[in-house]
Amino acid sequence: MSALPDTVPITLQRGAPGEESRTETYDVPYREGMSVLDAVVWIRTNVDSSIAFRYSCVNANACKECMVSVNGKTEYACTARLAPEGTTVGPLTNKTLIRDLVTDIVPPKENLRTILAERDGG
Ligand code: FES
Repeated sequence: MSALPDTVPITLQRGAPGEESRTETYDVPYREGMSVLDAVVWIRTNVDSSIAFRYSCVNANACKECMVSVNGKTEYACTARLAPEGTTVGPLTNKTLIRDLVTDIVPPKENLRTILAERDGG
């Protein structure tokens, strides 16, 4: 049985619309089965409180708010497992970027502007 690493690298894409996108890599204390969301929460708690990301249910896969790109694939951060060799996380590429890992995932029919426009006949 191979030993588990003490820390694993996770690279996060940072930035907001109008800014040049950049990546930052953090070494996160590793626990077997750790989720990408666990790692991002650890970074925000212990290293950089300015990282923007969204979640509500932690690992019930119920709120759907934590969708991000993990190693280039759309995943829920709360159920995607951290890879011991390293993981890269970015915002969804098919949604409007708000900041860092947060994108506008509200369905158009639930968007407040759309609702108000329909209400007002526009
Ligand atoms: S945090 Fe709710 S689905 Fe991931």
